Amino acid sequence: MKPKLEELKVGFLAALDNVKDDQGLEELRVEYLGRKGKLGDILKGLKDLSVEEKKDIGAFANTVKAELESVFKRKQAELAHELAGAKAQDEWIDVTAPGIAPEPGHLHFSTQAIEEFVDIFKQLGFVRVRHPEVDWDYYAFEALNMPKGHPARDEWETFFIADGDKVMEGEKGKMVLTPHTSNGQVREMEKGYMPLRMMSINKTYRRQADVTHVPMFHQLEGLMIDKNVTLAQLKGTFDFFVKRFFGPDREVRLRPHHFPFTEPSFELDISCNTCHGSGEFEGNRCRMCKEGWHELGGAGMVHPNVIRAGGLDPEEYNGFAFGWGVERCMSMKSGMNLRDLRIIYKNDIRFLKQF
Ligand code: PHE
Repeated sequence: MKPKLEELKVGFLAALDNVKDDQGLEELRVEYLGRKGKLGDILKGLKDLSVEEKKDIGAFANTVKAELESVFKRKQAELAHELAGAKAQDEWIDVTAPGIAPEPGHLHFSTQAIEEFVDIFKQLGFVRVRHPEVDWDYYAFEALNMPKGHPARDEWETFFIADGDKVMEGEKGKMVLTPHTSNGQVREMEKGYMPLRMMSINKTYRRQADVTHVPMFHQLEGLMIDKNVTLAQLKGTFDFFVKRFFGPDREVRLRPHHFPFTEPSFELDISCNTCHGSGEFEGNRCRMCKEGWHELGGAGMVHPNVIRAGGLDPEEYNGFAFGWGVERCMSMKSGMNLRDLRIIYKNDIRFLKQF
């Protein structure tokens, strides 16, 4: 058996020399050292030998096996090394070569609108401020002349913040995702500087989603507090904004309405771009607006109770406030034909690229 083992060794070494890759290496291992390999075949003969011979041949066979395994391992290491070298050659990169420039992006539709609002209102001295988007219901409702249980609160479709299954509550009431930016009114007055002209633009949240509503949207809140502020100034401010944002041919209209935190209160309308406020287009009822006007938001003279909640004396100070949705306002721009507001937040690059 010894010559057979010697022969096996010579054959193995010669074959190993010719191996070029991992696959060849594995094939060789199976052929010689595997369970059904050549070495195993030879060793099957052991059982027919005497005890003495078994000892002798067995020991010899073990040394041969160890030797084969060790050269095998060396070859394996060599191959791995070669491969790494070849890889380094193949995958060499020229770090000085010019790269592929990523396509430049741009600000989101809503952010662009917000920047435009800021630019327009700052010409009238309004400064952009931020207020919490998660706030106590004291600021969202109570300080705005809507005591606990006031039915008007329902109109705001509010999300409450829960800790487990309990609504979070603190000294200033329940925690809410602000359903409008009007929480900024009292928060800004509390800062205690007068006179003030602010626009608070933030995310707002309401439990509604359909073609004209997204549950997360943005609102702009304008607030001016001073002595002897007039309704004419509110209208002038709104008109200034509308002419600059929508174009000089758009008219404004204040339509009597009700909000608990302003008195008197109005809805802010702008004339329809198609029929220019007449409600008629080419002899038919205008299909864009039906009656000549589009509603943009709400406004009014700040209610004395709200002035008081802000720490001021309503005999001394008064002012106006207005607010509207950023996305809605954008969708009303001339040439805009947004049938479903929800697309703004679908992250569809084909839509977003257009702005
Ligand atoms: N906060 C009101 C709303 O969400 C709008 C508004 C703002 C009305 C300021 C009056 C004054 O509908």
